[in-house]
This record gives sequence, C-alpha cells and structure tokens, in this order.
Amino acid sequence: MQSIKKITVLGSGIMGHGIAQVSAMAGYNVILRDIESSFLDKAMEKVKWSLSKLEEKQKITHAEAETILKRITPEVNLEWSLKDTDLLIEAVPEDLGLKKKVYADVDRFAEEKTVYASNTSTLPISEMAVLTGRPERFIGLHFFNPPQLMRLVEVIPGHSTNQHTVATALDFVLRVGKEPILCRKDVAGFIVNRIFIPLVHEAAYRLDRNGVSMTQIDSAVKYKMGFPMGIFELADYTGLDVIFKATSEMYSRDNRIVNPHPKVKELVDAKNFGQKTGKGFYEYGGSTYERVNLTEEEAAKYDPIGLVAVAANNAAWLISNGVCTKEDVDKALRLGMGLKTELFRTVETFGVRNVVEKLREMTAKYGSRYEPDVYLQSYKSK
Ligand code: CAA
Repeated sequence: MQSIKKITVLGSGIMGHGIAQVSAMAGYNVILRDIESSFLDKAMEKVKWSLSKLEEKQKITHAEAETILKRITPEVNLEWSLKDTDLLIEAVPEDLGLKKKVYADVDRFAEEKTVYASNTSTLPISEMAVLTGRPERFIGLHFFNPPQLMRLVEVIPGHSTNQHTVATALDFVLRVGKEPILCRKDVAGFIVNRIFIPLVHEAAYRLDRNGVSMTQIDSAVKYKMGFPMGIFELADYTGLDVIFKATSEMYSRDNRIVNPHPKVKELVDAKNFGQKTGKGFYEYGGSTYERVNLTEEEAAKYDPIGLVAVAANNAAWLISNGVCTKEDVDKALRLGMGLKTELFRTVETFGVRNVVEKLREMTAKYGSRYEPDVYLQSYKSK
C-alpha cells in the first residue's frame, strides 16, 4: 500500500471542494485545482461556510477550522498542482470528452508515484483508465453530496486496477473518516446511483400517472420510505444537471436501467438546475441550502409502493449480479443517502408479495424494464 501525504483535487465544484475539505480535515495537505481563480474563490468560500457550520455544531474548534483551511491551497497551474502528489482525485464535470483532455494534460505532468482516482458517479472506470498512461493505478472513488456529511465512498476498481491501488484507495477512505464499499463490478451507476437515478425519473412518472402533488410524493418518500429528503427535493439538492448527465450516461450504457422522464431535460434546458440556481422541481428563496416543507399529513395521501418496488428491484439486480451484497446495499443507502430505514425492511413493511405484484402490474402496463428481479422474487422476510 502506498503512503499518501499530498493530495491534488482537480475541479472545485460541489464535490471537489468537499473532497478537498474532508482530506484537509484528516490532516492531508491538499492542492485544489481549477481552471479559473474565480471558481477557486467560490470554492474556498464554500469550504469556509462548511467549516463555520461544523464549528457552530461544535464538531471542530475555531483553531482547528483555521488549520484545516490553511492545509488547502487553491491553484490554477496544473503542472505545479501535480508536483509531488501521491493521490490525484479528479472531480471535473461528467463529460468523457473533457475527462480525456484533462487526463492527457495530467499525464504530461504527474509524477510516477501518483495514483489516479476519479470521483465520477457513472462513467465507466475501465474506459477512463485506458485514457491514462497508468490504467493499473487508476480507480473510482465516488463520494456523496455533501462529502462533508455523507460517510460513504464507493471504491470501484476497473478491469486493470491492481491490488496495490485498491488497498491504497481503501486505506485512504478510512483515513478521511469515511466508510468504503467495494463495488465489485464496474456497472453503470455503481451501487447508489443505480438505485437513486431511476427513482427520480420514476417519481416524475408517478406525478403524471397518479395525479398527486410533488410534496405528497416527497412527503411519502420521507415518512414512509425512510429517506431524509423527498426524492424531488434530493434531485434539486444534488443538481438536475448532474442528474441529467448521470441519466444520459446510464441510459447509453443500457437503456433498461432508467427511463428518462422529459421533465428533467426540460428543466436542465431552461438552466433550472435545482437548489443552486434557485429553481428546479421546486422554487427556492435563494441558491443556498434550503429545505422543502414535507409533512406526515401529506405523506398519508400517497402510497409509494411503486417507488419502493422500483428502488428494491434495482437493489435486487445489484445483488443477483454479484455487484454487492444485501448488507452493502443497506450500508450504501444508509451512509450515502442517509436512509433511516433499510430498503428491504421497507419492502417487508409493504409486503414482499405486494411489491413483486406491483412490479408485475407495472410490467404489464409499462414494459419489461419493470420485470421483478429473481432475488426479489425469492426474497424471504426476516
Ligand atoms: N457542511 C457542513 N454543514 C452542512 C453542509 C455542509 N456541506 N450542508 C448542510 N449542512 C448543515 C445545514 O446547514 C444544517 O445546519 P443547521 O442545522 O444549522 O440548519 C445541517 O447541516 C443539516 O441539518 P438539516 O436539519 O437541514 O438536514 P438533515 O438532518 O436532513 O441533514 C443532509 C442534511 C445530510 C443533507 C440529509 O438530508 C441527507 O442525508 N440527505 C440526503 C443526501 C443524499 O442523498 N446525498 C447523496 C446524493 S447522490 C450523490 O451525491 C451521488 C451522485 O453521484 C449524484
């Protein structure tokens, strides 16, 4: 295993600045690199805001916040930012063409010892690895938004990734105080997004099909499915631009995984990216952290069995295809999406037979993508 002392994070957006912060909080010196200093100024403001929140909640002291901040150096120059780096974490926008260009530049300057990790949420790790001169030392390290609060990191080896790199990545994740989950196959959406992204679109179809309101669906997701947020609220919070790119990527890899609802594209085309632009599925007072008002009264008006069924069916697919275990799914959803109730526990509450029956009904009405997975069909309640 390689010892990591210096880290470079490429891209200072929502994920990049958060990953830089958690690395600095664990004691690492971090270079946060972006192409314009104005992007870096905004990112450092966000780090300061987050540190002040953690200070306010007495998770860190003021002196610690200052030390953490000093460990992060914003930098525009790529060559300088890669000097002496042990671990590079790439968090640039999810566009394979852009990543190709970035890795070509990185390869010119990175030192021999540098391990490459990508925070991609859906792009194929094996395909990205071959864009670089070191596919055996390339790995997926997928953090969750907000990286400062979510404890999960998916670790995804590509076809050529060697064991040394896997061990280095797992060790790094533990050192930054996160919980790694090994995604055993480089499948579209890995573990969490394989469940999360289709659920956003399914919820949008429910609006059309069930004649309910967004807050009714979201309240049911929160109070009957154990999510910390509603699904539309979470999509707005994640960023509809991010959701749209992840959807397109997953759909292009296998069009059975997700059934893109036109509303997401419509919102993205109008530059309504969610919370960060003040409008997405919902409208917000500004572009900073804000919650939608969801209530148990609203939740009582909607039965989310169709959403439970779709989430559970995708989780079942991951298990029956050897991507991860049921325990991994539970851990991933708890630590990566803040689920308060295990997904299969919710399935048990709704009744396994009812959930499978619901999927059969949806298959008959809407097509074979809803066919119940073999794992779910044979699932026995505990
Ligand atoms: N740093 C520090 N503090 C932060 C913060 C940050 N980055 N972001 C929010 N906070 C603060 C808030 O300001 C709030 O503080 P106050 O109490 O002072 O208002 C506090 O943390 C959160 O408290 P809330 O009562 O508002 O909300 P909560 O208890 O529900 O926690 C949450 C918020 C952690 C975001 C929680 O709702 C949650 O887990 N949501 C789900 C998030 C999720 O699913 N993330 C994964 C998205 S998918 C993804 O990222 C993958 C991908 O590739 C697309």
